[in-house]
Amino acid sequence: MGQVFVLDHPLIQHKLTYIRDKHTGTKEFRELVDEVAMLMAFEITRNLPLQPKTIETPVVETESSVLAGKKIGLVPILRAGLGMVDGMLKLIPAAKVGHVGLYRDPKTLQPVEYYIKLPSDIEERELIVIDPMLATGGSANDAIHSLKKRGAQNIRLMCLIAAPEGVEVIKKDHPDVDIYLGALDEKLDEKGYIIPGLGDAGDRLFGTK
Ligand code: PRP
Ligand code: URA
Repeated sequence: MGQVFVLDHPLIQHKLTYIRDKHTGTKEFRELVDEVAMLMAFEITRNLPLQPKTIETPVVETESSVLAGKKIGLVPILRAGLGMVDGMLKLIPAAKVGHVGLYRDPKTLQPVEYYIKLPSDIEERELIVIDPMLATGGSANDAIHSLKKRGAQNIRLMCLIAAPEGVEVIKKDHPDVDIYLGALDEKLDEKGYIIPGLGDAGDRLFGTK
């Protein structure tokens, strides 16, 4: 069964408070999302395998460690997932980046896929699907199905904020996918917004309405 990790590091919680605050403007919101994505990347990469490497320091020869060449792929869900890409790339600069374009139909809340472009070797990569919000779970669920259909074997999901409803959907449909969250909120409202949440992540990131 996939595990759910809430990355409740104090810096993440502090920054999330300002991200949630409706008085935080677009510029600061964007910067904070970028910073939290970087901090979450630090946590999510904790278990990457290492391999030994012999080097010479200026003083002696010694055996040290380097990453064992695990190939990572980031897959932001457009459009709000884009806001987390640069922050993650600061820590994992060699990661390839695929894109899945989805939006929620405002009436049905069902995800509609309008774009997909992925690295050619996704079956060999550890893929991290990124989206600030996991609400009904429809968008992430659909994105993960799309990736699996195209051969993805190892997928993790990383979101700033989730509702319990969305987490349950992913756990049920994708028990092989671990979920990493900045916060697990209370519930969804009747329009499918996360409560307390942060409002519409895409609109707040890009200054649209
Ligand atoms: C938001 C968000 C997620 C989705 C979550 O995207 O970024 O992708 O809603 O909701 P769900 O779990 O109920 O599917 P939105 O549809 O607003 O599109 P946008 O990123 O283009 O603004
Ligand atoms: N999408 C968002 O951007 N915010 C929510 O609260 C739910 C879905």
